[in-house]
Amino acid sequence: MKAIFINGSPRKTWNTHKLLESAMKGAADSGAETELINLYDLNFRGCVSCFACKLKNSKTNGLCAVRDDLRPVLEKALNSDVIVMGTPIYFSYPTGILREFVERLLFPVMTYSNDENGNRIRAIDKKFYTATIWTMNCPESLAPKLNYPLIIETHSKAIGMVMGYTEDLCVYNTLQFTDYSRYEANMFDGDAKARHQAEHFPKDLQAAYDLGKRLVAKAKGE
Ligand SMILES: Cc1cc2nc3c(=O)[nH]c(=O)nc-3n(C[C@H](O)[C@H](O)[C@H](O)COP(=O)(O)O)c2cc1C
Repeated sequence: MKAIFINGSPRKTWNTHKLLESAMKGAADSGAETELINLYDLNFRGCVSCFACKLKNSKTNGLCAVRDDLRPVLEKALNSDVIVMGTPIYFSYPTGILREFVERLLFPVMTYSNDENGNRIRAIDKKFYTATIWTMNCPESLAPKLNYPLIIETHSKAIGMVMGYTEDLCVYNTLQFTDYSRYEANMFDGDAKARHQAEHFPKDLQAAYDLGKRLVAKAKGE
């Protein structure tokens, strides 16, 4: 049982990374072999629309044909049962690099053909248990006004459709700087942010841990 964790944040010791580490611990405690990949360490682009994966009798078997730093990561993801992605929200959307990863993961697995019953054929006949952990400055109460639930649902719907199963974990009102007084950011109350972090982030870490544990249990059929 393998579980892979994909960090779509450039920061390695901050919110998204910490939550992924917690999810990874949950998965390991459920008996999974785990690995965390930092996308910003890799040199790759999104889908280049080469359609090698869409050719009749394509030999790609669900793996993107483009040979770059991402290919071994995609190979590992396809050999995993659980795939947990993490991304900060940047200007209302997941980071560009996380989108590039998702394009390269999903497109070769999906096909444009239906079987005789009208069900979409997938290049890999396997259910992946996936999730996305979202972190953002935005407090939970403001998220609907900014359409975040719709954006998150739209992004994740494609993942669920292609990979078989998906969940989202949203972590709001994250701490962005250690010391707010050093930055031009008077729309934020640094003390209130720190208080929120101290009170809520441990619960978010627990939710991430539970997510990792639950996905592995589901993948095991428990
Ligand atoms: C370029 C950039 C754009 C951002 N845009 C948004 C945004 O649109 N909405 C939001 O709630 N937070 C936004 N944020 C804040 C981050 O989503 C938030 O601080 C996140 O938790 C950072 O994750 P990290 O700590 O893992 O780096 C933005 C941050 C950056 C650097």
